[in-house]
Amino acid sequence: MKTFYVTTPIYYANSLPHLGHLYTMIVADTIARSKRQQGIDTLFLTGTDEHGINIERAAQKAGRTPKEQADYVVNYYKKMTAEFGLDGEHGGYDIFMRTTEPFHYEGVSEFWRRVAKAKTPKGNSAIYKGHYEGWFCAACAAYKTEDEYRKPKTEGAAPTCLIHDTALDRISEDSYFFRLSDYDQALLSLYENRPDFVRPESRNNEVISFVRGGLQDLSVSRPRTSVSWGVPVPDDPDHTMYVWFEALTNYITAIGFGNEERERAFGFEKYWPALHLVGKDILRFHAVYWPAFLLAAGVELPRAIVAHGMWVDPSGRKMSKTIGNIVELDVLSRHFPVDAIRYFSLREMVFGQDGRFGYEALIDRANSDLASGLGNLSSRTLTMISRYCEGRIPSGHIPEEKLLLAKRTGVDTDETTIAGFIEHARDQFLQHFESFAFSRALEVAWSVVARVDKMITDAKPWDLAKDENQKQTLNAVLYRAAESLRWLCVLLYPVMPGASRDISSQLGLSDSSVTTDPAQLKWGALKEGQPIDEIKPIFPRIDKAKTMAEINQGTEPTAIHATEADAVTRAATQADTKPAPPMKHALEADAVAGAEGITSFIEIGDFAKVDLRVGEVLSAERVPKADKLLLMKIDIGEEQPRQVLAGIAQYYEPEKLVGRKVVVVANLKPRKLRGFESQGMVVAASIGEEGRPVIATFAEDVPNGARLK
Ligand code: MSP
Repeated sequence: MKTFYVTTPIYYANSLPHLGHLYTMIVADTIARSKRQQGIDTLFLTGTDEHGINIERAAQKAGRTPKEQADYVVNYYKKMTAEFGLDGEHGGYDIFMRTTEPFHYEGVSEFWRRVAKAKTPKGNSAIYKGHYEGWFCAACAAYKTEDEYRKPKTEGAAPTCLIHDTALDRISEDSYFFRLSDYDQALLSLYENRPDFVRPESRNNEVISFVRGGLQDLSVSRPRTSVSWGVPVPDDPDHTMYVWFEALTNYITAIGFGNEERERAFGFEKYWPALHLVGKDILRFHAVYWPAFLLAAGVELPRAIVAHGMWVDPSGRKMSKTIGNIVELDVLSRHFPVDAIRYFSLREMVFGQDGRFGYEALIDRANSDLASGLGNLSSRTLTMISRYCEGRIPSGHIPEEKLLLAKRTGVDTDETTIAGFIEHARDQFLQHFESFAFSRALEVAWSVVARVDKMITDAKPWDLAKDENQKQTLNAVLYRAAESLRWLCVLLYPVMPGASRDISSQLGLSDSSVTTDPAQLKWGALKEGQPIDEIKPIFPRIDKAKTMAEINQGTEPTAIHATEADAVTRAATQADTKPAPPMKHALEADAVAGAEGITSFIEIGDFAKVDLRVGEVLSAERVPKADKLLLMKIDIGEEQPRQVLAGIAQYYEPEKLVGRKVVVVANLKPRKLRGFESQGMVVAASIGEEGRPVIATFAEDVPNGARLK
């Protein structure tokens, strides 16, 4: 069986991840899913880079040991990758690598020994001991030459890193060196013989000119007295390996290099070489240093180094803590569905170039391409099948005797026209995908959405439905739309696994239908007569003003939506990624507006039965012997405040609630809880698996007692 191995860089465990880190994982996850779809045995590796001075310093600052610091960051990664559907449980990565694991120490020591024994192409020892004198950036974990730093304004001060703007460390110490300078010719012939080794091409040229400019030997250790948090140099424990030497090696130690148990569990022999996905900022380490180390150790070179660009803010500025423009994962996950984030990242960034990230742009794309585009196509097609075809996939065949009639309506009687269009689009899509041009691939997929939309609009099924003689024409149009949707689900699965599964299951197809090889798709495989499933809107329309206000004020999204148009939800059956956060708590009843013909619509009068009032918390206290309950007095504009009990004590400090505006269900039948009467209910969103409550509130000033309609 064919195998494929894709890796992300391992992330520094000094700080929590942001959009930039998430992006590399999304791309790797997308590639892995696409390979799996093709039936290739695929391994996807991610993880954390836990050693080095930078982590030591971050730990010190936070009052933790380096290991505690790493554990803290890893816990966050695990939580976030689960929330974003990127972990193993959701069909994402297979290995979360940690460089502090013993097997890594073993593997990397073996690797060092091999390099230390090796001769360079020019016949010298690949590793030698010397003295290093120069500047080092802890944040880059890299030595800096004169053209890589900014000279200090005052004499005697340290220069600053051009990337991080932080002061460099002066280093003057004994160290082991890797004789990189002997590898220039070997590397240049590698790039020449394998033009696909570094991708995209522009990056390849960058690497070639760097190597042509001449290579200096690389210091690959620090004295233990300077850096103790790392892997000791084999047979010389007074030195710690340079963190990049050790970190790069994770790609092979993770799957079994130098450790038999690991080899049995995963298989270096089986999966290596890998495709390394990296940001352009760390290209040199991967495309120059890493192949040179591997050449020295006599290990096969990677399959390819694929470099993406950086996310910058809407004004083109680099994301930085100082500017405060970092896109935090908590915010993203709180306000946006996973598939919208995945779609936006892959559609908006032209792979290899920098991309601008703005919440407004994300909302616009989600609303236009997803809610109004694919989501609408899916819901209108399914709704019409439900309405006009008794909820079963109709026949796509127009019998001979009806062809003339059909022609008169303007409907193309030749099914192969649309089939040919979509086949051609599929081929183009796959071609772009193979060359990492995700944005172009998605453009092609959306040309299919537009084409099918137009086919429906031109055919006017609602008119055809009025004429019994046009029944077969109507059926054919709807069959074509449904079959196109099935194709789209398969094509889009690697990008939007959750939504693809949802649409596919609404079409009545099994879970595995989206994971079939798109190259094997055959027009017409959708079975006539198959019942469709319950229809639920796939993509929520995001209320831009409201979401932007919530993001800017740092508040949680609210569960109750003021307008009917908002009241759509993602299918609760979503298997691969978490449901859209703002909609998660939606009651069954508010789950369905926006699509025709769904039986569980409610009338506006039903909604009006719920008396929702603005309230102000006057007091809040814990209920003795009830861990979860808070007892609140809430002013909802009546003579007496209401006494309301809420199961939120594990998440809210009572004191902090006082003075807060909340939404109260005022006409809920009173009931007793733990001996106290509860005269209403506070509305909250329910977040995550554990259903963390987040109380609904208002961005603007509202009087107590105001009614929500
Ligand atoms: N630990 C090293 C990698 C070692 S791999 C053997 C490292 N870690 S990192 O945490 O700083 O960065 C990891 C990845 O995140 C890199 O691919 C980097 O390009 C990516 N990104 C960090 N910020 C980014 C953006 N603003 N935009 C896109 N990707 C960015 O480097």
